[in-house]
Amino acid sequence: GAPVEADISKLEPGALLRVKWRGKPVWVVHRTPEMIEALPSNDPRLVDPTSEVDHQPSYCKNPTRSIKPEYLVAIGICTHLGCSPTYRPEFAPDDLGPEWKGGFHCPCHGSRFDLAARVFKNVPAPTNLWIPKHVYLNDTTILIG
Ligand code: FES
Repeated sequence: GAPVEADISKLEPGALLRVKWRGKPVWVVHRTPEMIEALPSNDPRLVDPTSEVDHQPSYCKNPTRSIKPEYLVAIGICTHLGCSPTYRPEFAPDDLGPEWKGGFHCPCHGSRFDLAARVFKNVPAPTNLWIPKHVYLNDTTILIG
C-alpha cells in the first residue's frame, strides 16, 4: 500500500490521532513532557525496555522509540492476537494502578503497553508493538509507510 500522511497540526499534547495505513490502525500520540519524563520509570517492568527485538526502524531504536520524543508513531495492533489496544493516557487510574504512567490496554486479554508502545511483563503479548517506517515532511506532517 501507498504511504499515508498524518497531519499533526491540530494534535493537542496528550491526544492521540488515528490514521489508516495498509488497512491497519496507526497511532500518533503527542506525548507531554510529563509523559516523556515518566517513560524510564517503566523500564524494570518491561519485557524489552531497550527494544532489542527488531520491531522498529533503526532510527527509532532509542528510549522513546521515536524520531521526536514528543511524537509516538506506532501500529495499533496487539502483538498477541491482533486486537487494537485502547489508549489510556491518564496517570494512576483506579483499574490500572498507581504505577500506571499512561499507555495502552488491550481489551481482549489484558496486555499492557507504555507510551513508547513497549510491552509490560506478565501479559500475553510477547513483544513491543511495531513502529512503522515514517519521516517528517515538515513540522506538522508525517509520512507513514
Ligand atoms: Fe491483545 Fe490478546 S490480543 S491481549
